[in-house]
Amino acid sequence: MKNMKLLSLLVIVASSLLFVQCTTDPIAGVPGEDGADGLDGMDGVNGTTECATCHNVTTSDAVHASYLFSGHAAGAAAGYAGGRASCARCHSNEGFIEYTTYGQVAADIDNPTPISCTTCHDMHTSFDFEGDGYDYALRAIDPVKLIVDESYEIDYAGTSNACANCHQPRRSGPVDNGLGLFEVTSSHWGPHHGPQTTMLEGIQGMEIAGGEEYPAIGSASHRTGSSCTSCHMGETSGQIDGNHTWIPTPTACTTCHTNGAPGEVTGLKEDMAALLVLLEEAHILHMDEEGAVHPVEGTYTILEAEAAWNYLFVYEDASNGTHNPKYAKALIKNSLDALNAN
Ligand code: HEC
Ligand code: HEC
Ligand code: HEC
Ligand code: HEC
Ligand code: HEC
Ligand code: HEC
Repeated sequence: MKNMKLLSLLVIVASSLLFVQCTTDPIAGVPGEDGADGLDGMDGVNGTTECATCHNVTTSDAVHASYLFSGHAAGAAAGYAGGRASCARCHSNEGFIEYTTYGQVAADIDNPTPISCTTCHDMHTSFDFEGDGYDYALRAIDPVKLIVDESYEIDYAGTSNACANCHQPRRSGPVDNGLGLFEVTSSHWGPHHGPQTTMLEGIQGMEIAGGEEYPAIGSASHRTGSSCTSCHMGETSGQIDGNHTWIPTPTACTTCHTNGAPGEVTGLKEDMAALLVLLEEAHILHMDEEGAVHPVEGTYTILEAEAAWNYLFVYEDASNGTHNPKYAKALIKNSLDALNAN
């Protein structure tokens, strides 16, 4: 009985709602005016035309063909240095990737492979080439803190930063032990084979006082007006050079040296030869049968050690002083004069 009452009450309420529905149906008015236009959306990423300036068969073929002639492909030391934890960051594909990903190579690496495309290239950081510049999908393009001096940052503001990761010294120069002496404890002593970055910058040499002035840091014309990649990866001259051979191409020199680049740094070869004679007499350096120069373990005067360091620095840079003609010249000439005066 109670339920029936409730039900009829619900029916009344429901039907009264229907009424409300009917009576409040709106009558359509005149349409309002159009609203103002919305703001333009953001520009889309450029189409594939720009991508195709690099991603095309001709470019790719030239890169692959040139790569075969490079020291990187040869990977002479990759076999035994590529796997060792202390060497791998520069000597193997796996080592460099681990280093750039985690900031270190934690342990020895099994089956390391030589430097290859994936060592340097990964993926694009952005596709806003106009705003961010071309990154060439390089893995490590940021400025590089030196291994031997974390407070010093090399910044080429471009693709050459990739090179600075590996082509930098592993040791800094000799320090007086308080008695005017320095002990060479290894026949591998010296800046190691790749001090090119610090030579170009004009740092990490032992600046013995003398008649030749040391140029200000970072002031070399080859540092300010050219770069690792412009000289070593420029347009090929038609010979085997430039691009991914990393053999310096004369086309990169003629922008400044309009009559062709000078073949050598004036007087450097003669000064190097004279300095080597003195350092061999002091027994701190030694030339082997193949003509390679090595340090000899032992204790030497700090001047001999500094002069030997300078010799090894210019020698291991392997550009015959070209990277920084004035700095190389001053390091060698002042070392020579100081030893002669002793
Ligand atoms: C200035 C040269 C350049 C331009 C422009 C360029 N790329 Fe690349 N890109 C490279 C290089 C160099 C690599 C790495 C080597 C390779 O794979 O050939 C690469 C690699 C890539 C990869 C492979 C990355 C991976 O994860 O394997 C993709 C995808 C790619 N690019 C897409 C694009 C697209 C899309 C555009 C256009 C919006 C573009 N690229 C424009 C140079 C360029
Ligand atoms: C991952 C470390 C690494 C990076 C990055 C790197 N290099 Fe090298 N480079 C080496 C090693 C190691 C060798 C020696 C090859 C070998 O014997 O294993 C070498 C060899 C070379 C050579 C040939 C030297 C010879 O004796 O024939 C040149 C030139 C060179 N690199 C220039 C460059 C330039 C320019 C860049 C930047 C675009 C660069 N490298 C980036 C590690 C690197
Ligand atoms: C900071 C990077 C770096 C580290 C770490 C490093 N090397 Fe190197 N090494 C280089 C570069 C760059 C070259 C090539 C320089 C050139 O050819 O002008 C090179 C060249 C060499 C060469 C000469 C190869 C040749 O082509 O004749 C040997 C041997 C070598 N390294 C051994 C080692 C060993 C062993 C270790 C570890 C104890 C080591 N390297 C650690 C950067 C490095
Ligand atoms: C030692 C580092 C290194 C290695 C190894 C390397 N590249 Fe490059 N690559 C570079 C750098 C640096 C540039 C940018 C050069 C510049 O600034 O002009 C570049 C540029 C390129 C470009 C653009 C070329 C152009 O003309 O625009 C392509 C494509 C490319 N690399 C593909 C490859 C491929 C494929 C391999 C393996 C066969 C390879 N790279 C190995 C460092 C490397
Ligand atoms: C002004 C142009 C120029 C610049 C800038 C330059 N190089 Fe060189 N580099 C040369 C020349 C020229 C040689 C000597 C090549 C030869 O004698 O075969 C050379 C030699 C080298 C060698 C030794 C090659 C060998 O056959 O042993 C390496 C490695 C090297 N440069 C790496 C670099 C790196 C890394 C940078 C940037 C830090 C750089 N270069 C900057 C021109 C340049
Ligand atoms: C940005 C301009 C510029 C470029 C590019 C350039 N050079 Fe130089 N180069 C100079 C200047 C300026 C000097 C004078 C010495 C100095 O200021 O360091 C010089 C000096 C030299 C010297 C020493 C000459 C001497 O008498 O002692 C050599 C060797 C040399 N350059 C070779 C090269 C080679 C090889 C290339 C190309 C791979 C090259 N340069 C590219 C500007 C340049």
